[in-house]
Amino acid sequence: MSRIALFSLVFAAVALAQDTRPQFPKVPLADQIYPTPDGLPYQLYNASDPFIRGPQSGFNQCNSTTETQDSKCQTAIVNDITDFCLWGGIEPNQVVANIEGEMVAWCTKKGHGTRVMPADTIKAVQVLNAPGYVMITGVIDQSLLDLDPTDPGGEEDFGGQDLAGNPIGALVYSTHFSDNNNLAQIRRWTEFIGSGQFCMKICKGADSRADELCRHTLDRIGLAYNCPSKFTIGAGSPNGTFEVCDSADMTPPGVYTGADGVTSTYTQGPEGAPLNVPYTATAASSSNCQTFTSSAIYTDAPANTAAAGSGSAAASGASATAAASGSGSRAGSAGSSASRTGSSAGAGATGASQHSAAGTLHVSALAAVVGTFVATLMFA
Ligand SMILES: *[C@@H]1O[C@H](CO)[C@@H](O)[C@H](O)[C@H]1NC(C)=O
Ligand SMILES: *[C@@H]1O[C@H](CO)[C@@H](O)[C@H](O)[C@H]1NC(C)=O
Ligand SMILES: *[C@@H]1O[C@H](CO)[C@@H](O)[C@H](O)[C@H]1NC(C)=O
Repeated sequence: MSRIALFSLVFAAVALAQDTRPQFPKVPLADQIYPTPDGLPYQLYNASDPFIRGPQSGFNQCNSTTETQDSKCQTAIVNDITDFCLWGGIEPNQVVANIEGEMVAWCTKKGHGTRVMPADTIKAVQVLNAPGYVMITGVIDQSLLDLDPTDPGGEEDFGGQDLAGNPIGALVYSTHFSDNNNLAQIRRWTEFIGSGQFCMKICKGADSRADELCRHTLDRIGLAYNCPSKFTIGAGSPNGTFEVCDSADMTPPGVYTGADGVTSTYTQGPEGAPLNVPYTATAASSSNCQTFTSSAIYTDAPANTAAAGSGSAAASGASATAAASGSGSRAGSAGSSASRTGSSAGAGATGASQHSAAGTLHVSALAAVVGTFVATLMFA
């Protein structure tokens, strides 16, 4: 090794050493087990467990006191089409890439100790109930969730560059997979939000199947590949669609069968590297769709004060009877529209700057090598 290389190595080590906090928290978010939301700590990651990106900016103890439109609640509920939360901004006009660690819960319903999405936020939504997950995709006015309307957005998930999650310390609960209709922890989940589209996917359990279906290392290839639905692939679907369907499990994000019949898993290169995705995303087949009308579903929505003349307040007067029309007319449509390229609609979320956990582990390994080397020098 040349002296210059040696010098750079020592210099890098000194630079790394300036922040003495560890890169990783003691317990990764993926291993934080809080089966129900009762008795959660105020924060999963507080100042007593210092790490470079920490501590958590918001909190997990969310209740009627914290249910304000500036709440920093970071415990999200994802139950069904009428009752789910998305991670959104903290102050108006934010960009996901700048606040990935700090985003807060915005929910369609009151009662979760969070902000409530204003009327007109959700323009269209499809809930796909699959054996291994629930995937909610749709069209959104992201400015009403304090996101810059032009932001291509990015991914939030239980992983994150230091395994503390994005948002850091975020928890998700749902009644969907629980045996007793009570809220149970969702340990594998991903959200994409940006370019007026969103996807919230919660996976069943925390086994290798859940890891695959809720794979969180493909942030750059966006919604079409991670959350293929009628909204995220092809030409998309018009606003005003509100439906719940049964679905087969999707092929896990990144998994494809090549022309030679061999099944492989795509891995995404680092930020800036060409994507070269070798396949086209397709939606899983869906059936038994129930359609709803929007204003009847989101009865808790506060008036959209951003709307000109606030004529939208009328929406909040809608009756609470969110009667399903029960038409099965959409059956199978997601599957049949699935052969289009995912590149246009999915571009929405590809501009994000989130990093995969795997990429960060390489950095960490390098730091360890550098550290060992410097220690060797010092104590030799
Ligand atoms: C920090 O979090 C831990 C784990 O939840 C908890 O035991 C501890 O009391 C908290 N410390 C402070 C200062 O809040
Ligand atoms: C709600 O949670 C906050 C912490 O986030 C706590 O300070 C407050 O006492 C709780 N309020 C109720 C009514 O439980
Ligand atoms: C659907 O809603 C979004 C968000 O408000 C808007 O940007 C878009 O133009 C709407 N699309 C149609 C076809 O109306």
